[in-house]
Amino acid sequence: MHKPLILGLSASLRNARSRKGGTRSISDEINEITDRETLEAYLEEQANIHLDQFKEAGRADGEPFDVLYRNLQRLGGQRGLSNSEIALAAALWGAKENGAEITHIPLPDHFPANGEPKNLDQLKKALRDADGIVLSTPVYFGDRGSLAQLLIDMIRDDKALQEEISGKVYAGIAVGAKRNGGQETTLIYAMMDMLNVGLLGVGNDSNTTSQYGGTGHAGDIGTMPKDTYGLNTSIGTGRRIASVTSQLVSAKSASLGDTPKFDFWVLQDRDSEAVSLVSPFAEKLGEKAQVRFHDLVQHAIRPCIACDICPTHVGPDSEYRCIIRKRDDGMVSEHNALIDTDIVIPVVYSTRDRTNLKSVYQQFMERTRYLRRGDYVFTDRLVVPLVIAEIGANEIMDIRLMTSFVRHHTVIGKPIVAYIHNGTLLNPEDVQAGLERARLEGARLAAGRLASVSANLAATQYQPVGYVLATAKDKETATISDREAAVRDRLKRQSEESQSRLVLSGGQ
Ligand SMILES: Cc1cc2nc3c(=O)[nH]c(=O)nc-3n(C[C@H](O)[C@H](O)[C@H](O)COP(=O)(O)O)c2cc1C
Repeated sequence: MHKPLILGLSASLRNARSRKGGTRSISDEINEITDRETLEAYLEEQANIHLDQFKEAGRADGEPFDVLYRNLQRLGGQRGLSNSEIALAAALWGAKENGAEITHIPLPDHFPANGEPKNLDQLKKALRDADGIVLSTPVYFGDRGSLAQLLIDMIRDDKALQEEISGKVYAGIAVGAKRNGGQETTLIYAMMDMLNVGLLGVGNDSNTTSQYGGTGHAGDIGTMPKDTYGLNTSIGTGRRIASVTSQLVSAKSASLGDTPKFDFWVLQDRDSEAVSLVSPFAEKLGEKAQVRFHDLVQHAIRPCIACDICPTHVGPDSEYRCIIRKRDDGMVSEHNALIDTDIVIPVVYSTRDRTNLKSVYQQFMERTRYLRRGDYVFTDRLVVPLVIAEIGANEIMDIRLMTSFVRHHTVIGKPIVAYIHNGTLLNPEDVQAGLERARLEGARLAAGRLASVSANLAATQYQPVGYVLATAKDKETATISDREAAVRDRLKRQSEESQSRLVLSGGQ
């Protein structure tokens, strides 16, 4: 089985590195590092080199920045790392440690400051060759820098490229000077754009609590190595993309013997209009998917009470473990149906006129906390938001769905937005194509996930993804043995699922 290839793209306008003239790349250097301590020493050293380069280029003599900038370019871009390059290097290290091959391209090599793009064919080839892409950008005005924008626009302008890179995995890193400088907005917007050109999106891994990617807090040149939290989330982002891409590599020699479990979770609707609108499209998936509708708006879903013991106890996934136990509560009755899935399509009807609109969306999201903290039950499942949006409703539900679901350690697919105007669906072909894409990608991910269970079993290395339990509770002997039982249970279920559903085709 070949290793997945992760391409790191750095989008800093004060990039230290260039690969022009075939100079040594960040990835060559990272490949030589085998422990965290050495990584940190390397990042510190590179940060200091970059700072010294600024001093040599004229900062020490008080030269204006334009002089300094020209001098820096003459230094050749072979040493040192800018802040967002440091975070990217950390992510590439995480990916490498988690079994991936890594490579790096500095975007200024292709989008120089003179505005004339260079060798875009090389950049496009690198995107095509990679299994996963990590884009690291500085935060500018709560959003990406222009180099990241140029990359995204290049992909948007090239339909053939979009098809070729469709289904590859994307993850992001953002570094900003302020603690709340917009790292998360930057990650969320970039993720939405990458999903919309056809990539699958992941955040950072469960060890770093599964958020939107790497978040660096560093402004002055040379300061990123001090931000341990930012380095951790960046490393976690690298690990996460390596894990998902390696599952997808496994999926090249495996497939589902049955069809993917394809679940519509209806979270906001008016008089079942959303269900009626989506059903004919779902029917067209025919025999190729096990389609199930969970009409959650028909249930009472009580708000979370923000208890401090969530989940109530350590136990197998099949046990409902939320403190709210009212019998008529939708989470109680639907628990087992919800967790048995390959593809989740959360459905939200977003109307201009909210008369008779029933929404359980927010309560539902809150209440899924026990499933997240009970060891990320939805790990690696594909989630494709489906928003039926009346023109002018402007609820940005596709973004909100992505933002909440990625925190379940899922893989997010291209959102489907069904536009409605005066009662007419304007883009039925997009809805059908979106569901078909979800089916194919979800089947591929499910096969990869199940194939990786067999690989993990063989290596007897399998661990559950995180277990977020309160420290005190975690140390109790009963909790430890319960946890071991829960791990065994999940492992058993996954291996049974793998044996009954997976067809291996050898090769690779
Ligand atoms: C035009 C511009 C806008 C910026 N806007 C923000 C911002 O909105 N939030 C923030 O936290 N930092 C902001 N910064 C600071 C950079 O994100 C920060 O210096 C970062 O470390 C740069 O990464 P680099 O060293 O890899 O280029 C801005 C910097 C520039 C030049």
